Amino acid sequence: MGNESRRTRHALNRRDFLKVSSGCVAGAAGIPVFAASNPSHTATPVTAYPVLDVARLSDLTPGTTIPFSYPSPTSPALLMRLQEGALDGLGDDSSIVAFSILCTHKGCPVSYKAEQGMLICPCHWSTFDPAKGGSLIIGQASSSLPRIALRIEGDRVQAVGVHGLIYGRHTNIL
Ligand code: FES
Repeated sequence: MGNESRRTRHALNRRDFLKVSSGCVAGAAGIPVFAASNPSHTATPVTAYPVLDVARLSDLTPGTTIPFSYPSPTSPALLMRLQEGALDGLGDDSSIVAFSILCTHKGCPVSYKAEQGMLICPCHWSTFDPAKGGSLIIGQASSSLPRIALRIEGDRVQAVGVHGLIYGRHTNIL
């Protein structure tokens, strides 16, 4: 078999693999899947975890922040309703987002600074933009904050998974 046909066979195998992967559904906690229904995060695996009620939708007025822990008690996170729409935000104005607040540099908890509209780490000042999917804007960290996957069920805002790897974990398992 020539090099060209070997390459073609390899490409077909990879394509088939991707087709199968994108159809996978997580049936148990800690299984990474790809968020194919979410165009801006198609490349970011989301790990499904047990559903957690975080807040009532009707309590989330613009500017509200609600600390919670997810997916375990040692994993601090922040639910936020921003003043305007956000990348991958939920709600009628796409302003509801949530992130792990453990900085991806060395794990210090970041805090939200409303004046700047940024999540800022007090240790070495890495700055993350909650309106842009938790993207790193500046600082020592090398990656965005893990985004908590949310859903709205009636008047409840629920956490259902995590996009990316939470600081200090080798894998996203409980
Ligand atoms: S721990 Fe956050 S910037 Fe270093």
